Amino acid sequence: MKAVLFLCALSFVLSEKTLNNQFLTGVLEGADLISKVDALTCNYSPSDDDQENKFTSAWEKFVVDLVDITVNCKFEYALRPITNLRTSEKMMAKAQQKFEDAKAKGQFPVLSDINMYGKILGAWLTEFMRMASPSAFKFSYESPSIVALADSSALPILFFHGINGACTDSNYVEFGDYLREQLGTYVSCIEIGNGAQSSILMSMTDQVNEACTKVKADPNYQGSFNLIGISQGGIVARGVFQHCSGLQVNNLITIGSPVMGVNKFPSCEFGIKCSIYNNAARLGAYSSAFQALGPGGYVKDQYQYQTYLKKSSFLADLNNERSINQDYIDLYLSLGYFVQFFFTQDTIVIPKQSEWFGYFKENSEIMQAYNETLDYVNNYLGAQNMDAEGKIIRTLIEAGHCDLTHEQVNQYLIPYLQ
Ligand SMILES: *[C@@H]1O[C@H](CO)[C@@H](O)[C@H](O)[C@H]1NC(C)=O
Repeated sequence: MKAVLFLCALSFVLSEKTLNNQFLTGVLEGADLISKVDALTCNYSPSDDDQENKFTSAWEKFVVDLVDITVNCKFEYALRPITNLRTSEKMMAKAQQKFEDAKAKGQFPVLSDINMYGKILGAWLTEFMRMASPSAFKFSYESPSIVALADSSALPILFFHGINGACTDSNYVEFGDYLREQLGTYVSCIEIGNGAQSSILMSMTDQVNEACTKVKADPNYQGSFNLIGISQGGIVARGVFQHCSGLQVNNLITIGSPVMGVNKFPSCEFGIKCSIYNNAARLGAYSSAFQALGPGGYVKDQYQYQTYLKKSSFLADLNNERSINQDYIDLYLSLGYFVQFFFTQDTIVIPKQSEWFGYFKENSEIMQAYNETLDYVNNYLGAQNMDAEGKIIRTLIEAGHCDLTHEQVNQYLIPYLQ
């Protein structure tokens, strides 16, 4: 008797496993991943509910299954875009419409067939990815078989370094090498002037003009490309994006950038460039001498906001704070994503909340979140519309200024570098 029970139990386990394999094989076939990923590495079983109800094609259930699959099969780079997609009501409505249309057209045939259900889910996983982030499937560092999918179809990448830095600094060289290695695409750091000194002493307008000329001269940036700005480089990147006409920026990414301005500068203690800078700073934030320096372009004293509006040599225009330039709004709405990295322990960008477009309320020390500022409430740059479309990705990193690990680059940056 006991032996029989044992055998029965064993055969049940086997058939369940076969069922799961049929299902997972279906998912991988549907997602066109069958030759790239071993179904057995996925630890996913359809719920009992699935098996009893024969895979009801209800939209809500379908979405839950999609998410479970991405989690359990460790499709990490699918998970984030899908999560983003799910937080955008508009995009979810669009996806659901597609789903209902497909159902109406009879594209959900025999759902009692577990392999078929898997295939349909797999195909929809791909469809979702396409809607959320076309490249997201290409990269996963935990499953080498998915890495094999990475090809040179990633767009070229251009990045700008931070203040007092140069493209030849080892950290920027390493950053470029890493992206090149992971994405197999063209990556370059465009230098302005002589690097470190010019980043402080050249006005933001001059920096952006020079950058624009250099970008336009590089044949790799004639088509669509992804643009990254690190720290002050984010101001340069935004300047190039908004002022350099004819460029096709796909995703714009700022990493620890003072996009709403700064009201203090970290001390600048050594060398001639610092003494010029410090002398100019003593003349006042809105003196023409200070405005003519790189950082002068984005200094914003909340106690002199009206002076800032009048005298700011760069940021007030860039942020549409003085008057609305519809072209800027149209440009932002044309982006795939605007990804903003914020570092919780940042002591270089003051206030650090600027990295997510937060800032002090005028004449006060009250910190306003990105969605409480005049800029957002009055929709100066169309951020409300971008949010409605799920185009702004606010990424929080619990570390000091621009202190990203390789894992964080993999997880939060690579997916947006298609
Ligand atoms: C701002 O956004 C946060 C987080 O998304 C939300 O909790 C808060 O209610 C929003 N505030 C306003 C004024 O919309």
